[in-house]
Amino acid sequence: QEQQHQPLFAQMQRASDFYEAMLRSHEQRSKAVDYLQRRGLSGKAAKFFHIGYAPPGWDNLLKQLAPEQPKEQQPKEQQKDTIKQLVSCGMLIEKDDDGKQYRTYDRFRDRIMFPIRDARGRTIAFGGRVLGDEKPKYLNSPETPIFQKNRELYGLYEARKIRQKLTRFVIVEGYMDVVALAEFGIHYAVATLGTATSEHHLRRLFKIVPEVIFCFDGDQAGRTAAARAMETVLPLLQDGLQARFLFLPDGEDPDSLVRHEGKDAFEQRLNQSDHLPEFLFAHLKQQVDFDTLDGKARLDQLAAPLINRLPDGMLRQLMRQKLKEETGVDSHALNKLEAEAPASS
Ligand code: GTP
Ligand code: MN
Ligand code: MN
Ligand code: MN
Ligand code: MN
Repeated sequence: QEQQHQPLFAQMQRASDFYEAMLRSHEQRSKAVDYLQRRGLSGKAAKFFHIGYAPPGWDNLLKQLAPEQPKEQQPKEQQKDTIKQLVSCGMLIEKDDDGKQYRTYDRFRDRIMFPIRDARGRTIAFGGRVLGDEKPKYLNSPETPIFQKNRELYGLYEARKIRQKLTRFVIVEGYMDVVALAEFGIHYAVATLGTATSEHHLRRLFKIVPEVIFCFDGDQAGRTAAARAMETVLPLLQDGLQARFLFLPDGEDPDSLVRHEGKDAFEQRLNQSDHLPEFLFAHLKQQVDFDTLDGKARLDQLAAPLINRLPDGMLRQLMRQKLKEETGVDSHALNKLEAEAPASS
């Protein structure tokens, strides 16, 4: 299967090289370079992440990677194969003009290009950002035979490349967050690709480190994402693994904040971030009127199913204990769920 995907990996690498070259040499490169400079990106970081530029136009990539060939060399078939591969890996889009001609155009146009790489460093997808306020702000590669969004993390390969001994990861929302943190010497940030954090993502990270810190944007979307991430991570928290949550000031994201505050202040925030139990109770208490009895009963109802998602272990026992302390009674909801739950281990 790997073998069969070999041509797709090769085309993605050619595309990545092309976009990188365009950032250095295209006649309109200066607007891309200016944009990156305005955002405070150094050439070194751009190089390390192989950031590139997809120039404006419908067929730059097409012409470069699948050029028309002189007839006598008889490579028409080869050009067709290349185009098919580029369609298959999401770089070209088929035009459905029901004519006889098979026609395609570039998916990414006039965008800053972030190559997304797999564990072995092979380019498997791209995220592309507009230079201005157009929509969509980011365009990602579609799912392809070599790219599954809910498994891959932007920056993971790069983080492992920089440091063999990692002790924790920070999960952020965006490409620019990963790149900015790296720029400031925080080389252990990874981003999901415009999707929610999945169990696959977390399993991968916990295979490498015992601690994961969620650090989403300081906005409503970020707070919602954190609550969802908590639910996703709970079943994975074997004793010894830790999930933590860092909430940023309103309107900030990791990129903006590390630029405002610098590395040390940002890392201090990471070091002081909420542990999952703190966040879980704080989050639930916000949803109930904790000063009333029915509020406490509601807390019990909300917390019990979450706590029961934890794997059997010390942490689950301690959280149950804590819930009892919070409500002041032996939990009805907890007992009920425990009775119903299949006897696990
Ligand atoms: P910058 O404006 O470049 O700093 O991006 P950001 O990462 O801060 O963007 P934002 O906080 O708005 O969104 C977080 C992440 O969600 C982005 O990095 C993208 O992965 C994704 N995202 C944002 N906007 C879009 C969009 O229009 N389409 C898609 N598919 N994903 C998006
Ligand atoms: Mn390169
Ligand atoms: Mn946001
Ligand atoms: Mn941002
Ligand atoms: Mn953001």
